[in-house]
Amino acid sequence: MYRGSPNHVAIIMDGNGRWGKKRRLSRSEGHYAGAKRMEEIIDAGIVYGIKVLTLYAFSSENWSRPSDEVNYLMDLPVRFFSRKLPEFMKRNIQIRISGNISPLPVKTREVLEKAVTRTENNTGIIVNFAFNYGGRSDIVHAARTLIEEVNSGKISKDDINEEKIQQYLYTGDLPSPDMIIRTGGEKRISNFLLWQSAESDLCFLDVYFPDFTGEMFAETIGQQPVNSYLSG
Ligand code: FPP
Repeated sequence: MYRGSPNHVAIIMDGNGRWGKKRRLSRSEGHYAGAKRMEEIIDAGIVYGIKVLTLYAFSSENWSRPSDEVNYLMDLPVRFFSRKLPEFMKRNIQIRISGNISPLPVKTREVLEKAVTRTENNTGIIVNFAFNYGGRSDIVHAARTLIEEVNSGKISKDDINEEKIQQYLYTGDLPSPDMIIRTGGEKRISNFLLWQSAESDLCFLDVYFPDFTGEMFAETIGQQPVNSYLSG
């Protein structure tokens, strides 16, 4: 159990598809509503003084969805960052990506890379998008990189410890999440931050992500506002 303010909150944004279905809308319309809500949650993260917000935007398992839905999810960041990047710069927000973005469509990859490089010197909240992310493949990727470092003589086998493995995960220098929130009613971790969640509080909520408001977020993390400004 963390004490005081959570530094790092991670969210499994589940329930978009069912939110759409309940309203006789498409699953993609559910994702659109989820993306809008995500903007509110980023604002709330700033207001409540969160240092790192990790958002599970596309899991490595999501490729098995119907192709129109996958295409929509690949297109969302393109539209999102074209609109939001200037604002993120103004608000000193740093964007990170955790996951293997090399198999993504070029346009999506480029927009994510640009968001990361443009904002890398920003010192405000870190918004870390888990994109084409899987907890097991995160660990495999770290193991491979460590083996390369050992083989090239950069580090020795004896340097490998828990801290070293943590450093080589996609989340790198970020602190482990104090709390993981999953919306949508299911009580599973679904291959999210497997190593990093060892000590996290887990919070499962019976609300579809597009209905998850900034106020609910505040209630869940049990915080008082520390910043007063909202969306710029
Ligand atoms: C899971 O809900 C959610 C996703 C697969 C996508 C989450 C993405 C967003 C909220 C927006 C991301 C936007 C950007 C710009 C990165 P689900 O479809 O599995 O819902 P279901 O369980 O009801 O089917």
